[in-house]
Amino acid sequence: MHAVLALETSCDESAAAVLRRDDHGRIEVLASQIASQVEEHALWGGVVPEIASRRHVEALPGLIAAVVDEAGLALGQLDAIAATITPGLAGALMVASVTGRTLAALHRRPFLGIHHLEGHLASVMLGEDPPQAPYLVLLVSGGHTELIFVAVDGGMKRLGRSHDDAAGEAFDKVARLLDLGYPGGPAIQAVAETGDPTCFKLPKGRISLPGGGFHPYDFSFSGLKTAMLRTVETLRQTTDPLPLADLAASFEQVVADVLVQRSLRCAEDHGVGQLVMVGGVAANRRLRQCMLERGQERGIAVSIAPLAYCTDNAAMIGAAALMRLSQNTGSTSLESGVAPRWPLDQANALYATDPPF
Ligand code: KG4
Ligand code: ZN
Repeated sequence: MHAVLALETSCDESAAAVLRRDDHGRIEVLASQIASQVEEHALWGGVVPEIASRRHVEALPGLIAAVVDEAGLALGQLDAIAATITPGLAGALMVASVTGRTLAALHRRPFLGIHHLEGHLASVMLGEDPPQAPYLVLLVSGGHTELIFVAVDGGMKRLGRSHDDAAGEAFDKVARLLDLGYPGGPAIQAVAETGDPTCFKLPKGRISLPGGGFHPYDFSFSGLKTAMLRTVETLRQTTDPLPLADLAASFEQVVADVLVQRSLRCAEDHGVGQLVMVGGVAANRRLRQCMLERGQERGIAVSIAPLAYCTDNAAMIGAAALMRLSQNTGSTSLESGVAPRWPLDQANALYATDPPF
């Protein structure tokens, strides 16, 4: 049995969680808390890095005390301390990293520096019936839109990606365009509820291949964003108020369609019978429903991360740490710093004796 404390401060949510893995390999969240800074950043229309770092410094100690207390464990009873160390905002990442390394040194426990995307991938393990590799993962967050194949041995291969904006970024930008506020995903979802998703015809965004044709599993959301801008500009000349619900629903539908179609096609072409969906945008109701329905139609089993663990949280970081502990891949040097970017397929390097950053 293993128990870990996990910390997450890579962007605008400060989060701490305590998790346990039992002898049957089941992962249990004993406590998970998040202090969101969204309201403060919303005043500026997006995340202000300097504000994020300061708020993490203020919030994290209280969150740690609260989750350790709720879990009914003392810090000394934990088997490891984990914190996200890449990718993200450097100053923000530093808060959980320094706190985690300090606690690990104080309590003489191993420190696990976790790759944020490995955390998102592990979030699906927090569901009722966790999938077993091999599977294809659609990772859709504010910074990433990727299709990643996970092999039986845990090895990963990226099969698709966005060439410009991530899906979450598109939600955020279109929400700003429609004056719906930040973060855009939940705002668009709320307004779209009463809208007609077939009202506006919007482009699906495709990536040309050098030899002709289109890349079957890659994404592009910048054209869609521009199409929304043009549609809104034209409407503004004739229509007041704007048909916000129809605009939001049409946008949400085209994003869901393109994510679902390309993911299922990628799974089919590679003979993979399971599709996993994780990341902030995986919280989207329309997308969840479309993916489940069309997966079923095409005989592909779909597992989606529990709603509570789609957007940034520390429980998913703890799940990734527990998986690392059970695989004995080693701990992270206390000398390790943080990095704004680091490729997911190089995540093993975070556990090398000589840390890469
Ligand atoms: O995974 P996440 O919390 O942070 C990153 O690692 O990027 O994802 C945040 C993104 C934001 O762009 C936000 O607008 C989007 O996820 N998001 C949603 C929903 N909830 C959050 N997008 C669509 N529908 C939602 N319900
Ligand atoms: Zn994230």
